[in-house]
Amino acid sequence: MDLPIRPAAPDDAGAICRIYNQGIEDRGATLETELRTPEERRQWLARRETRHPVIVAEEDGEVVAWGSLNAFSPRASYRFVADFSIYVERGRRGKGIGRQLLARLVELARGHGYHKLVLATLPGNAAGLRLYEAFGFRTVGVYREQGQVDGRWVDTVIMEKLL
Ligand SMILES: CC(C)(COP(=O)(O)OP(=O)(O)OC[C@H]1O[C@@H](n2cnc3c(N)ncnc32)[C@H](O)[C@@H]1OP(=O)(O)O)[C@@H](O)C(=O)NCCC(=O)NCCS
Repeated sequence: MDLPIRPAAPDDAGAICRIYNQGIEDRGATLETELRTPEERRQWLARRETRHPVIVAEEDGEVVAWGSLNAFSPRASYRFVADFSIYVERGRRGKGIGRQLLARLVELARGHGYHKLVLATLPGNAAGLRLYEAFGFRTVGVYREQGQVDGRWVDTVIMEKLL
């Protein structure tokens, strides 16, 4: 069943923070290790530009996932490339919510005139890799030992999709 997806509002900062921190704590999703606070996420939301929207999916009136289109680079020549984020609440993963959010992000990216979506994920992120492959993302390559998390080197997989 498709969930309602809408633009994030300032009051979603708490839910977005909670869901993002789950992804950070789980370690399999991102090289980010710094936990966020609702106030920090509120300021992050307030700074977003029109071309870098944040969206949320709701289930029974509760925010259960969020996604965003992010600037790939501040250089003007990269303005047609967006990076993106998707985070689904721990207990609601694997139920098709990520697929719905990514479909909306692709739609929004096309609407904003982007030419390409790119992402970096971790080689062990089976759900993420499967999701991106299902949407036609191709693997550009693997950065070896790109970051250190908990004292260990971590590779990242770079993927892209021309829109
Ligand atoms: C990655 C994530 C966004 C995917 O969203 P989701 O709602 O869990 O995934 P969906 O249910 O929409 O499934 C998408 C695809 O992945 C597959 N999948 C889901 N969970 C899986 C798992 N644990 N292992 C392997 N494949 C999985 C599904 O079968 C589906 O593929 P299909 O269309 O071929 O059937 C979500 O799991 C998540 O938030 N994870 C933690 C944060 C994260 O990794 N964010 C991405 C950072 S790059």
